[in-house]
Amino acid sequence: MKLQSPMIIVNFKTYLESTGKNALSLAKQAERAAKETGACIVVAPQAADLRLVAESVEIPVFAQHVDPIKPGSSTGHVLAEAVKEAGAVGTLINHSERQLRLIDIDATIALCREKGLVSCVCANNPAVSAAIAALKPDITSMEPPELIGSGISVSKSKPEVITDTVQLVKRIDSKMTILCGAGISTAEDVSIALKLGTQGVLVASGIVKAKDPYSVLRAFADATT
Ligand code: G3P
Repeated sequence: MKLQSPMIIVNFKTYLESTGKNALSLAKQAERAAKETGACIVVAPQAADLRLVAESVEIPVFAQHVDPIKPGSSTGHVLAEAVKEAGAVGTLINHSERQLRLIDIDATIALCREKGLVSCVCANNPAVSAAIAALKPDITSMEPPELIGSGISVSKSKPEVITDTVQLVKRIDSKMTILCGAGISTAEDVSIALKLGTQGVLVASGIVKAKDPYSVLRAFADATT
């Protein structure tokens, strides 16, 4: 199933509920919701689970990070070629919990372009989103750090931050795919994000920590179709 807007990117982070066999189960639930609704749902498992997930589902799989390195002696780093071969079609970059220097964000976007990986660069506010847009990633996602994991959705609590981001980014690149995230927990949060001008959401705990992730995924998917 292809990557398209509107989209829901589920960041598995490093929660135990989305690690190993749990990552596979969650990815299968996302695939089921995507197939039932036609919605675009992307999953972003940890590097250690990438191949397991990518070989088991037909929905797009993203890495959570890749390093701006060439193949060779870079112990402990994440090689773009490796995540691509494992089945990833894209990657998050500069997530609030895995921040990079601007020079490294720029290099990683260029590396993704060269290797055929979709780049989804995270930013913490509208101005940084605009700065990131100037580096020409495929997607930018704005997430106020103070709301991440809070269950207080950026859509409801800070709609102006979303509209400011859309306005500033579109001035730099009118075709940029813009997502938002942080605290997204209900279908209404997703609908508001779309109404405010984004092309989707980046979500983690609202899905990963849900009692019934499939039901939440299905409700989110219905809100995008
Ligand atoms: O990558 C998305 C994530 O940072 C948002 O976290 O748990 O508030 O959905 P959460």
